[in-house]
Amino acid sequence: MQYRELKAFPADFLWGASSSAYQVEGAWNEDGKGPSVIDALGYYPPGTSDYTVASDHYHRFAEDVALFAELGLKAYRFSIAWTRIIPDGDGEVNPAGVAFYHRLIDALVAAGITPIATMYHFDLPAALDAKGGWQNRECVDAFAKFAEVIFGEYGDKVKHWLTINEQNMMVLYGEAIGTVKPGQPKSALYQANHHMMLAQAKANLLCHELVPDGLIGPAPNIALCYPETCHPLDVLAADDFNAIRNWLYLDMAVEGRYNSVAWAYLEETGAAPQIAQGDLELLASVRPDFIAFNYYATHTVARPRSDGQDVATGGDQQIAVGEKGIYAGASNPFLPHTEFGWEIDPIGFRNTFRALWDRYHLPLLVTENGLGAFDKLEDGQVHDSYRIDYLRDHIAQIQLAVSDGVDVMGYCPWSAIDLVSTHQGVSKRYGFIYVRRDEFDLLDLARFKKDSFHWYAKVIATSGADL
Ligand code: BG6
Repeated sequence: MQYRELKAFPADFLWGASSSAYQVEGAWNEDGKGPSVIDALGYYPPGTSDYTVASDHYHRFAEDVALFAELGLKAYRFSIAWTRIIPDGDGEVNPAGVAFYHRLIDALVAAGITPIATMYHFDLPAALDAKGGWQNRECVDAFAKFAEVIFGEYGDKVKHWLTINEQNMMVLYGEAIGTVKPGQPKSALYQANHHMMLAQAKANLLCHELVPDGLIGPAPNIALCYPETCHPLDVLAADDFNAIRNWLYLDMAVEGRYNSVAWAYLEETGAAPQIAQGDLELLASVRPDFIAFNYYATHTVARPRSDGQDVATGGDQQIAVGEKGIYAGASNPFLPHTEFGWEIDPIGFRNTFRALWDRYHLPLLVTENGLGAFDKLEDGQVHDSYRIDYLRDHIAQIQLAVSDGVDVMGYCPWSAIDLVSTHQGVSKRYGFIYVRRDEFDLLDLARFKKDSFHWYAKVIATSGADL
């Protein structure tokens, strides 16, 4: 639908930007921090760096927050490294790690920037992983303990909480991201998933108990799945993949029940988790205050191929490879691609908003969206017009979604500042702020404002009126 006049963005819209601890902080073993699964990985895709220094935000956060303030951010979404707070995941609290996030949060609040904290963004403590990670039910209580500590420490200053970043991507593409060891059987992945659901539910309850006025929501990666054609079997395959990729996670987080199509798929493929007594009651007893979601692009899928060749190689968060006999990954001929092969679909953003709103009727907060590119620093400048185009097109679709009647709380694109991507190194940049380092040469880690920084500052200042 076209509108003659669009609705304005809400006055309290959270114009923000995002990051995650392990991708931006560095200082991987400083001040008592324990190793996470990412630190313990020991292998990185060829040509990509590790996360030991990242963007050195741990030491330069004050400079970075000053830049965020200059950008005009109303909100900053960051994650708290579990291993800084409780280095081995479920033992002693590390005061130096706790103090770091107090310093960061205080700096944000002093700058008038609303802190939005993700509790866990891919960096499970390695000590917990050694005990089976999320496949071990003990991880649920470890997370609840961590939740109690951080709600107690920061709950008077942080009112917006996100439980688990992209739980769905950790289940579907954990090997690519580095959160899951290669070769795990699907049953183990979905047992881990069930435990994460329980952990999320416990965190939800604790937030409402311990944080006055606290708001909490899940943060999956949600991308509507399109059928490759209008053949009824392609439509069915897209419906299946929507259930497996998207609704499994949100039906549980919001309505406390397993999505029936997803559950049928789990049973059919021998991956249904063991459910202990009381689990379903716990899951059904919580309701989040909002839904946060990361959106990069839609997916297109097709019915299983008659030759059985459903599965391509090289899948990741945005490249659906297919699953034999269930669906086949397809590409959308109407969409352009980024330099890294991810499709670009701003209209799909609006489609995704509408689907989420129609299904759940909860306020929606965008916690990631952005363009990874090989930026070039020349004479202290980065002319990233391609990123401006991407963001402009997506923000325009948010305004259309708002005009459609969707309740959108805010927009936190990825990323506030350059950081290390999940599996494609430092050279895949997303930030409004350039960090001068190469893949393996740290150079001086100096910060530079990209053209997109100046553009986004204007967007925020005009509350989206001047795109
Ligand atoms: C999301 C993650 O999957 O996408 C981020 O939550 C990640 O951590 C972002 O960085 C972009 O993906 P990538 O693989 O390009 O870093």
